[in-house]
Amino acid sequence: MEQFVVEGGNRLDGSLLVKGAKNSMLPIMAASVLNSSEESVVLHNIPNIYDLHVMKNILGALGFEVVYRGDTLQVTPGAEIHHTIPDEFMKEMRSSIFLMGPLLARLGKVKLTYPGGCSIGPRPIDLHLKGLASLGVQVREENGYIEASAEKLLGTDIHLDYPSVGATENLIMAAVLAHGKTIIHNAAKEPEIVDLQNFLNTMGCQVRGAGTEKIRIAGVPAAGGCHYRIIPDRIVAGTYLMAAAITGGQVTLHNIIPTHLDAVVAKLKEAGVEIQGTEDSLTVLNGRLQAVETLRTLPYPGFPTDLQAPMSALLTKARGDSLIVESVFEARFQHMQELIKMKAQVSVKGRNALITGVERLVGAQVNATDLRAGAALVLAALAAEGTSVIQHVWHIDRGYECMEKALGQLGARIQRTSGLDLSP
Ligand code: UD1
Repeated sequence: MEQFVVEGGNRLDGSLLVKGAKNSMLPIMAASVLNSSEESVVLHNIPNIYDLHVMKNILGALGFEVVYRGDTLQVTPGAEIHHTIPDEFMKEMRSSIFLMGPLLARLGKVKLTYPGGCSIGPRPIDLHLKGLASLGVQVREENGYIEASAEKLLGTDIHLDYPSVGATENLIMAAVLAHGKTIIHNAAKEPEIVDLQNFLNTMGCQVRGAGTEKIRIAGVPAAGGCHYRIIPDRIVAGTYLMAAAITGGQVTLHNIIPTHLDAVVAKLKEAGVEIQGTEDSLTVLNGRLQAVETLRTLPYPGFPTDLQAPMSALLTKARGDSLIVESVFEARFQHMQELIKMKAQVSVKGRNALITGVERLVGAQVNATDLRAGAALVLAALAAEGTSVIQHVWHIDRGYECMEKALGQLGARIQRTSGLDLSP
């Protein structure tokens, strides 16, 4: 069981390159299943994170040859493509659900179990299933398995009850080879959906409107191989901006798309953090942290729920009271209990958390309960007095490539160890 041991109190200084976005890479890898040509799909700017390897193994089990070298991933269809996703993969990663749309489009059938994933509240897939049913998919549930099939997928109008990121992506991927036109209304507008659209169009599909609430898809007979570069990870970038800010450091992040972080930069500025930008970089300069009135998580272009936990860590050190409202996921405050162990002042009621800034955080042994909660605890540990031990860092590895090396490069004192227990 690996953990991070962090000696707090060092300012972060320097610069980092940000790699491709996990939340683009996973649906795009799933969309590679649509390729029925002899050419490969070659993806560039791939981060070496745990979820990459899970998705790589799933594609392998489905009959694809997948080679990861440098930051490039090559996916080549084998002679036979299977339609069943083994249960152990479904349990391991929620994003395995992304295979549903492309497998239905490519083979007309898919068999899988309900997806697992991190413990941030119930994560149903009703919107995925309802949308697929509109496209003509029949869904049966038996002995814990979902079996879905369609003689022919037929383009149609789909109205999402909520702009779910995953449902929007799954439905786009199901519709690209359908007969006729599909329009998805109330679609999610995240940059990763635009990235998926651009990838699919590079494969020869016809998708328009991603980034707005209406996405139009004209079905094509087949999709082929291509080269594609994944957009930079705005959540990783946001996390490292906050890491710099909580230590009072000066850090520049390169290879990012600053406009994807507009809501985040606005909130950081409200919290007293000075930030300067260029076309593809952002620099955090030293500032005096102050509370923000309300931080409400929202679908894009609002403040991302994935940065709520790291931002909460920052606000524990900001003078005054900050109210956090988590409107996207029901149970995404598990990091708060751990921050309290580090002497943060937080009170949680339902989806609201009130943080009163403190002068000093104190190192403690804490538990990374999920990916972004883990990142938040690392940030708090960087700013705390003394030593912190963050357990279950495999959660952090799901979405951050060697976080300890990236932060170490900026001057943080952070080490990955196995099983060292500093509890009294
Ligand atoms: C994606 C991101 C995740 C991010 C989230 C919200 C990936 C791989 N993951 O997750 O990092 O936190 O968007 O920005 O891209 N919902 C339903 N029924 C459904 C689907 C969703 O009720 O069928 C609800 C969820 O329970 C949640 C809300 O909708 O409360 C948002 O979920 P969704 O946008 O689907 O998030 P994911 O695609 O799972």
